[in-house]
Amino acid sequence: MRSGRFSKSMGDAMRRLNASIGFDQRLYCEDIAGSIAWVEALERAGMVSAEERDRIRAGLVAVRREIEEGELALSEELEDIHMNVEARLTALIGPAGAKLHTGRSRNDQVATDLRLHVKTVALEIAERIGSLIAALVERAEESIDIAIPAYTHLQRAQPVLLAHHLLAYAEMLLRDRDRFVWAAGQADVCPLGSGACAGNQFGIDRELLRETLGFSRLSHNSLDAVSDRDFACDFLHAASLLLVHLSRFSEDLILWSSSEFALAKLDDAVSSGSSMLPQKKNPDACELARGKVGRVAGHLLGLLMTLKGLPLSYNKDLQEDKEPVFDAADTILQLLAVFETLVATVQFDADRARALLEGGFLEAISVADYLTRKGVPFRDAHRAAGEAVRRAESRGTTLADLPLEEYRELHPEFDADLREALTLRGALEDKDVVGGTAPRRVKEEIGRLRGLLGKERPGPARSG
Ligand code: ARG
Repeated sequence: MRSGRFSKSMGDAMRRLNASIGFDQRLYCEDIAGSIAWVEALERAGMVSAEERDRIRAGLVAVRREIEEGELALSEELEDIHMNVEARLTALIGPAGAKLHTGRSRNDQVATDLRLHVKTVALEIAERIGSLIAALVERAEESIDIAIPAYTHLQRAQPVLLAHHLLAYAEMLLRDRDRFVWAAGQADVCPLGSGACAGNQFGIDRELLRETLGFSRLSHNSLDAVSDRDFACDFLHAASLLLVHLSRFSEDLILWSSSEFALAKLDDAVSSGSSMLPQKKNPDACELARGKVGRVAGHLLGLLMTLKGLPLSYNKDLQEDKEPVFDAADTILQLLAVFETLVATVQFDADRARALLEGGFLEAISVADYLTRKGVPFRDAHRAAGEAVRRAESRGTTLADLPLEEYRELHPEFDADLREALTLRGALEDKDVVGGTAPRRVKEEIGRLRGLLGKERPGPARSG
C-alpha cells in the first residue's frame, strides 16, 4: 500500500514478491466479516455516521458477492485481499469507503482474518477426524472374530484381535481430534483494535468487535496481538502429528496388502494401477499419506523458522504464515476424505489371518505364563518355554503339538491342561485388563469410543 510519500511505482519484480493476493484471497470471507464488525464499531465510536455505516456494510456485502461469483478481478497492484476489498468498496460506494480503514491497520486485520480462518478449518478437520474414527470403530466391530499377530520389531510377537489393532489408530486419531479442537481454541482470540502495533486511538469498543466476530477472548497486548502466530504453529503441529499417524496406519496397510502378508485388500476406488505392469494394484493413497508427512511437518518447521528471531511487532516476514496453513489444511481434508472410503472398504482375509498366526511360536509366552501361574518364577518359566521352542523347532512341529513328555523333561509342573492354555482363544481372553486385547475388553472399547463420538460437535477449548 503506497501513500502520498512515494514518487514512483514499485518495480515489477518487487510487486510480484510483495503481493500476497495470490493466496490470501482465500481469506475474503473472514476479511469482509472483520470489516463489517469494524464499521459497526466505528459508528458506535462516532467515527462514521449511521448512514455511512449502512452504505459501507451494503458495499462490503456486494464486494463479497462479486468475489464469490468470480466477477471481481483481484489485482496484484493492490497487494493483498485487504486492499483489494477496500479499493473495490470505495469504487462501489464512493468517499464513505475511504473511511473504513479509520484506526485500523492491515496488521490487526490480517491477524484477525487468519485466526477466524484457523478456528473454522481446525474444527472442520476435527469433525472429519471424528468420521474417520467412526469408520474404524465400525470395521473393528465387524472384524471382532479375526485375530492377527501383533508385531514388535516387525517380528510376530503375540496374537491380538484385528479390531484391537484398528482401534489403536482410533486412539491416535482421538488425540488428533483433541489437538485440532485445542488449536481452534488457541486461535479463538480477537486481536482487532490493536492497530498497527500500539492500540486504537478512537476509543473503539473491542468487546463489541470480539462479540460480533464470535471470538471467546480478547488479546491483551497490542504488540503481541499483531505479531503472534503461535496459534498457526499449534494448528500445524496438530496437522503434523495427524499426518504422522496416518502415515503409520498407511505403512501397516501397505504391508498388509503386499502379497507377502496378503492380509488386506484395498478397494479399487482407492488404489491405482501401473503404467507398465498389468497385474499391479498399488496402495497409492497410503503411499501419498506417508509421503505428505514431509510436506506438512515441513510447513510447521518453516513457520517456526519464519518466527524465530523476529523483533516485535509486525514484520512482513509474517506474510509467510498463510500458505503453510492453507496447504496443510487442504492436504489433510483431501487425505481424510480418501481414508474414510479406504477404511470403509478395505477387505480383511480371515483365513490368511489364521495362517499368519501359525508357525511363529506365538504361544511361547502362554507356555511361560502357564508355569508362572503354577508358581514357577517367571525367569525359570521363560527359560523352559524358550527350550520348548527350540525343541519344537528342531522337531519341525508347533508348541501345541510338542508331546507332553518333552515338556515334562523341561519342567515337572507341565501337565495335561497345558493344551487348553495354548489355544488362541485362551491367549486372547487372558489379556483381560483395560486396554488389553481380550475380546470383551475390545468390545468395551468399541462402546466407549461410540460414546465419545456420539457427543455433539467439539467446541474450541477455552483457556485463559
Ligand atoms: N499481506 C500482509 C500479510 O499478509 C498484510 C499485512 C501487511 N501489513 C503491512 N504493514 N504491510 O501479512
